[in-house]
Amino acid sequence: MTPKRTIAVVGATGSQGGGLVRAILDDGGEFTVRALTRNPGSPKGAALSEAGAEVVAADLDDEASLDRAFDGVHGAFVVTNYWAPLAPDAGISRAERELAQAAAAARALERTGVEHVVWSTLEDTRGHFADDAAVPDVEGYKVPHFDAKAEADAFFAGLPVTYLRTTLFFENFVDSFPPRRGDDGALTLALPIADQPLAGIAVDDIGRSALGVFARGDALVGKTVSIAGDILTGDGYAAALSDALGEPVTYVPVPFDRFRAQGFPSAVEMGNMFQYYAENSAQFTADRDLDRVRELNPRLQSFREWLANRQKSPA
Ligand SMILES: NC(=O)c1ccc[n+]([C@@H]2O[C@H](COP(=O)([O-])OP(=O)(O)OC[C@H]3O[C@@H](n4cnc5c(N)ncnc54)[C@H](OP(=O)(O)O)[C@@H]3O)[C@@H](O)[C@H]2O)c1
Repeated sequence: MTPKRTIAVVGATGSQGGGLVRAILDDGGEFTVRALTRNPGSPKGAALSEAGAEVVAADLDDEASLDRAFDGVHGAFVVTNYWAPLAPDAGISRAERELAQAAAAARALERTGVEHVVWSTLEDTRGHFADDAAVPDVEGYKVPHFDAKAEADAFFAGLPVTYLRTTLFFENFVDSFPPRRGDDGALTLALPIADQPLAGIAVDDIGRSALGVFARGDALVGKTVSIAGDILTGDGYAAALSDALGEPVTYVPVPFDRFRAQGFPSAVEMGNMFQYYAENSAQFTADRDLDRVRELNPRLQSFREWLANRQKSPA
């Protein structure tokens, strides 16, 4: 019997990496999983161990720990968390930290001679916004959590890498911007995506798609794989939520500037992101062919399927 090959998963306690850990364990196929976390002894680390993963300590800010964690693996999934809290005295921006972490991971993977890297990345929005001075800069970028990832693609270029371009998590429609009840008692889904189709995906399907990429191996090395589970307008997301909740949800398009002016810490960045999703919708959604994603991940869920599955087994 061929021994199983190990995939190291950065962000294993989080959404994307967690999705990949579950996918590998559920699949029970050709791969085993090494889950990387800064805190193996945490409840999440212990749960991964209990579920059957090898859990090892690694910190993207500590390159030596990455050398140890990547040692001997066949493949590695790398995701950086732009949103992780940044100490006020850090002396760098979140984007600079994300770039430094991606560079450290790429250097460690080069030293350890990994055979396949899947780098979780996103589009660079700066080309789209080049002529639009009305869209404010954030940390010298337009949408730093997109643009810094795209910029970091270059760090992985010398490696056997597949660039996995993700998109908005379906989970946001439940956790971050769920339908809200107004004074009139009615539910609205208020988002700045105009009338444009928006690509979304369940985090479990990011994991399963990444597993599909590892399973294809060399055929996808050097390639960009752009994924989504569904492509719906605001009305489409609202209609699916209406059916799941059993009461009407109305989509309300929010002007980009009004969204940016809300004053919460990431309002400008998120407003810019939604403006990019809306204005670049034709290209962004055309790059995500759901039939091709389903070839990689036959269990790919539409938004309605994800909502229904969630109701069957709530987290
Ligand atoms: N939300 C969306 O819709 C969306 C869509 C596309 C892309 N993204 C991108 O997804 C990224 C975050 O991924 P996620 O949502 O899967 O993560 P998450 O659920 O927020 O969890 C963060 C993960 O990052 C790990 N981590 C943080 N700092 C680390 C460090 N210094 N060294 C090693 N591991 C570290 C954490 O591990 P430990 O704490 O266990 O060490 C944890 O597993 C962001 O960069 C965001 O831009 C988000």
